[in-house]
Amino acid sequence: MSQIKMIRNASRVLAGVASRLERSDVVVSHLTGPWNSRNMSSKAVTLENVNPNIVKLEYAVRGPLVIRAAEIEKELEKVLACVSYPPLIDTAGFPEDVKQRAREILGACGGQSVGSYSASHGIELIRRRVAEYIERRDGHPAHWEDICLSGGASNAIKNCLQLLCNDIDGKTSGVLIPIPQYPLYSASLAEYGLAQVGYYLDEDNNWGLDVKELERAIADADCNVRALVVINPGNPTGQVLTRQNIEEVIKFAHKHKLFLFADEVYQENVYAEGSQFFAFKKVLREVGAPYDTIELASYMSASKGYVGECGARPPQKGEPSYELFMKEKTQVLASLKQRAELVADSFNQMKGFKCNVVQPELLKEMLDIFKQFHEKFTKQYS
Ligand SMILES: Cc1ncc(COP(=O)(O)O)c(C=O)c1O
Repeated sequence: MSQIKMIRNASRVLAGVASRLERSDVVVSHLTGPWNSRNMSSKAVTLENVNPNIVKLEYAVRGPLVIRAAEIEKELEKVLACVSYPPLIDTAGFPEDVKQRAREILGACGGQSVGSYSASHGIELIRRRVAEYIERRDGHPAHWEDICLSGGASNAIKNCLQLLCNDIDGKTSGVLIPIPQYPLYSASLAEYGLAQVGYYLDEDNNWGLDVKELERAIADADCNVRALVVINPGNPTGQVLTRQNIEEVIKFAHKHKLFLFADEVYQENVYAEGSQFFAFKKVLREVGAPYDTIELASYMSASKGYVGECGARPPQKGEPSYELFMKEKTQVLASLKQRAELVADSFNQMKGFKCNVVQPELLKEMLDIFKQFHEKFTKQYS
């Protein structure tokens, strides 16, 4: 997706949030006075009545330092630049393979634009490329229809965790996660009301994963354990599981009928001498029946290692591309307005249809809110 379109999409969402926030500010300011001060519970959502799972949720990894570091790290990769701004394909500054790849990707997108809607699981061409990559990596067939693309591994992991949000025989569903872990897991389990069942990595054994400890954790669990998360290579622990170890984990998952989450987002980041990354999918294929029938979802991310964008953000005031960004943004909004009017006009000309036209005042208000929000957002994260 092009940067401006990504920003545009994000902006649409954020502008919606901003407008809701701004509106609730307005409501609150109207409510100051005896009625509001007498009864704070006039608010629909308060710290007292908000979803307790959200209050429990802790997710420190997205702090301002990390965000700033990601911004500094940001450097557009060539293909991404070309698909984001196709006129670059016809310039001299890019190698032919990059141009070719960009053309292929654009050709696979509706309307030749990375901003167009795509299938929910992602663009077919990219899914095929991912499957080819997995085949090359593992030496076993991979099927493109088994590949789902998502906006970051986090989304995919959370989507799969949501499948487990269902009590069975009155017992909460639980998930085995490593301790120490990446906080996405504890936070998501808290958010979804799933039970966290920790298994301890063995610090003395280079943070190794001992199946005896998995057995201990499942035996002690006071819930219906339905899934096992393994982070390999580990974060924050950095260990790389041996092939033998992975086989044992697969057998354990098979024995206890567990859905296996193989978080392999750091598979390209194995630096230690003598360490080698083995994908769970590869080992599963090689270990064969009856173990290869377990449910396995493995996760990989473009946000790690050398291809990482780790978040493309709107340029800030004073930066060279700010003026262009604002110009493009204004053009986009103006074009959206035009289209909204066209649709409303068309419907209103049809017998039996009535469509309210977007009010220019409302549009101006939305633009002002967006402007204020953009300023606040860039200030907060600069
Ligand atoms: C172990 C682990 N899993 C998943 C993720 C999430 O990846 P993404 O940035 O693609 O959402 C991270 C991010 O740092 C991670 O460290």
